[in-house]
Amino acid sequence: MSPTSPDTTSPDTEPREDGPTFPPSPEFVADAVANAGLHDAAAADREAFWADQARSLLDWRTPFTQTLDWSDAPFARWFADGELNVAENCLDRHVRAGNGERVAIHFEGARGDTRRITYAELTADVQRAANMLTDLGVGPGDRVVVYLPLIPEAVVTMLAVARIGAVHSVVFGGFSAESLRARIEDAGAKLVVTADGGWRRGTVSPLKPAVDEALTGEGTDTVEHVLVVRRGENDVEWNDDRDRWWHDEFTKAAPEHEAQAFPAETPLFILYTSGTTGKPKGIVHTSGGYLTQAAYTHRNVFDMHPEKDVYWCTADIGWITGHSYVVYGPLANGVTQVLYEGTPDEPQPGRWWDIVDSYGVTVLYTAPTAVRAAMKAGRQIPEARSLETLRLLGSVGEPINPEAWQWYRQVIGHDRTPIVDTWWQTETGAIMISALPGVTKLKPGAAQTPLPGITAEIVDDDGRRVDPGEGGYLTIADPWPSMARGIWNDPDRFVETYWSRFPGRYFAGDGARLDGQGDIWVQGRVDDVMNVSGHRLSTAEIESALVGHEGVAEAAVVGAADETTGQAVVAFVILTAEAAEGVDREATAKELRDWVGKRIGAIAKPRQVVIVPELPKTRSGKIMRRLLRDAAEGRRIGDTTTLADPTIMATIADLM
Ligand code: WT7
Repeated sequence: MSPTSPDTTSPDTEPREDGPTFPPSPEFVADAVANAGLHDAAAADREAFWADQARSLLDWRTPFTQTLDWSDAPFARWFADGELNVAENCLDRHVRAGNGERVAIHFEGARGDTRRITYAELTADVQRAANMLTDLGVGPGDRVVVYLPLIPEAVVTMLAVARIGAVHSVVFGGFSAESLRARIEDAGAKLVVTADGGWRRGTVSPLKPAVDEALTGEGTDTVEHVLVVRRGENDVEWNDDRDRWWHDEFTKAAPEHEAQAFPAETPLFILYTSGTTGKPKGIVHTSGGYLTQAAYTHRNVFDMHPEKDVYWCTADIGWITGHSYVVYGPLANGVTQVLYEGTPDEPQPGRWWDIVDSYGVTVLYTAPTAVRAAMKAGRQIPEARSLETLRLLGSVGEPINPEAWQWYRQVIGHDRTPIVDTWWQTETGAIMISALPGVTKLKPGAAQTPLPGITAEIVDDDGRRVDPGEGGYLTIADPWPSMARGIWNDPDRFVETYWSRFPGRYFAGDGARLDGQGDIWVQGRVDDVMNVSGHRLSTAEIESALVGHEGVAEAAVVGAADETTGQAVVAFVILTAEAAEGVDREATAKELRDWVGKRIGAIAKPRQVVIVPELPKTRSGKIMRRLLRDAAEGRRIGDTTTLADPTIMATIADLM
């Protein structure tokens, strides 16, 4: 069996069973012993292993006596009778332990402005911000939508929300007013925290106007206040009843805040992600289990030594990577990290590598798409920098093609650094499959082995585990601490989407292969989810945006292999008779691209919009996306004999 033509497998990610392996570097020998110990402990008693991790990595105000309650499967409860405060675990306890002077965040603004924030300072900021939120009427269980650039206030907001037992829902700043509105409505947010604007490639991209627009839309009356950080210094409109400046409220708030303990299953955040339907899913994560696994994976996968490492994860807080590996994992572990607002190459090519050198970054965690973009820009750019402090590299977001893997290791890692390729998802909350430094022999392109405590298995159509050398569907057979606790407002969809395809198993939506040595190769999505630059996009959501345009009668969207972004969005549209008359194809294609950008966000803009007279449909009317993918990728078109009109694909290929 092979998974139904995985959408995202590009030709260069073909499994190679006997790819070169690399032995661990000498500095990992000691950690290897510890990491091997983790495997043994987890194999001996999985639940006891997780309980040990929770106890040793976190401070509990009320120790838990119950590890896992799976009686309401698939809605797990971990450490449920324990109590803790998530923010206190990320902040105050490090200060109490005498590490208040350690830098928590080296912030580098896009324009070169910098801030150095110690654990003591971050703790003080979050305490004051917690009081500020309370003063604005936010209490336990209330939802706060966060729409901010990647600046320290974003981290402070998330932790302050967590500190008072409220629930944050971060919306990536690249999403449109309409996407923001839909999330505000679904979450029933009481407060929106935003900025006037953020810096991007030398100019300000405004954020507050999108919030204003979103709040004129339906279903947003739950919002009482908008709290605005001054960052872009762009002019903004002001609603006196509703809007508050961060700097005013922050100064007014009391400086000290005593953290209250909350039960481990207290919701921590909702993060929206695209699925196979038009409506994004609000993935819900809770406190104790999530923080345990974020801290555990961050410490062990990245081999963190908090007293000496300088860690940098390049993700934005708008994605799960930013939640688990910018905010919660590193801060729970008391690590020093870099937070950078801008893009890799502004104002000059090589800005990223200058940041690595100037802060002495030791561990870098980024996405294959960024590695490929750096490859394209040329090796002379990183070669002109030292990069000598780097000792471990991480990859996330999509399968990393062996060419990018090799380049990352040789040019960035100077052949010294291991690369950990980490497979996980918004729903899994934390890394699930990865090499462990010092233990696993590295294999470029393979996600490799489930982490200790994780039961990742590849199964066939009938849910049976496949043998080495075979492919199938990636599933997780046992519950794990940071697993999603559901979909906000829609428990049935949670069961339906993840737990019904293979009874008793979590179905990830990815195809995967087990090689002869038992390593897992993730091959990409087997559903209608695309992966563009490591970000998840739904074909259905983009199609529904397109048909929302008055000139569009029908639309079909596919993810096509793209050299830099992994996949790119390609849309095929049939115009209404009216719109089709005397159409300027180029202008219309551009208008539709912009339309999608406005409806969903710039990341969802199709690379190409092809205006077609008809779509390839079977006699029963089902659109054959496989053929559209062939056309979008410039391949020979596959079998068209089942089409109602077998000639249509030739017409479409001519229009590409
Ligand atoms: C999907 C999850 C996890 C944070 C970033 C994306 C793909 C992610 C890998 C990897 C192969 C990967 C999968 C997965 N994916 N990391 N290392 N190797 N594929 O989070 O938006 O929830 O997307 O990203 O297809 O299902 P997400």
